Amino acid sequence: MYLKKLKIGNVELENNIILAPMAGVTDLPFRLITKKYGNPGLVCNEMVSSKAICYKDEKTLKMLESKNEHPISMQIFGSEVESMGIAAEFVSKITDILDVNMGCPAPKVVKNGDGSKLLLNLELAKKILEEVVKKSTKPVTLKIRKGWDNEHIVSKEIAKIAEEAGISAIVVHGRTRNEFYTGKSDISAVREVKESVNIPVIGNGDILCEEDAKKMFDETGCDGIMIGRASLRKSMDI
Ligand SMILES: Cc1cc2nc3c(=O)[nH]c(=O)nc-3n(C[C@H](O)[C@H](O)[C@H](O)COP(=O)(O)O)c2cc1C
Repeated sequence: MYLKKLKIGNVELENNIILAPMAGVTDLPFRLITKKYGNPGLVCNEMVSSKAICYKDEKTLKMLESKNEHPISMQIFGSEVESMGIAAEFVSKITDILDVNMGCPAPKVVKNGDGSKLLLNLELAKKILEEVVKKSTKPVTLKIRKGWDNEHIVSKEIAKIAEEAGISAIVVHGRTRNEFYTGKSDISAVREVKESVNIPVIGNGDILCEEDAKKMFDETGCDGIMIGRASLRKSMDI
């Protein structure tokens, strides 16, 4: 009833459970182990900097290596339209799905205007999404938090912008940037996005067990779920 195939653009996932991108965690060995024992429909790599791709930084290019783990999603971050376009063109040649990060709360990322900082500049976010979709040869997805802080909740707005820009699916983590990982992820943010757009919506945040997963599906109507930290504990059976 919950496990279903999921189509993202022209890519059909065997199931609708997705391993979240986690910097310092979802490297090649971790993805292969998760694929073997957890069987997610899609695995995501660690976020990579679009600027570092433009510079052909060796360590960054190494992070883009994959092996027998398809379908895979590779995530880029950045806030310069041109370098995001160049990175999209490059990465889309080696991935099945290309993901854009507009959720990362880390100070070293947001201080450059990247990650969740883009939730405060929707005009720039729109330009980036349009450019990435234009340059990518693969379906493009977007991963967001619900907003920057409680005064700037923009999930529905950016979801609509993304859909109009040609994004194929959107992942919603129901926390603001300022919450980092504190408190509880707000499931209603996922439901509101699901009610606002016609592209697949993936619910993310605090899914630790079967009950959490069912709650996410039941209360939001989301098309799939994304699991991050719980994948480090044990495989789930839902
Ligand atoms: C160690 C760590 C690294 C993360 N790195 C990324 C990342 O590179 N890109 C991204 O979009 N989200 C990243 N996240 C956020 C997760 O993808 C996910 O949205 C968040 O952890 C909430 O889901 P969860 O409660 O299932 O863990 C990271 C989270 C953690 C804990």
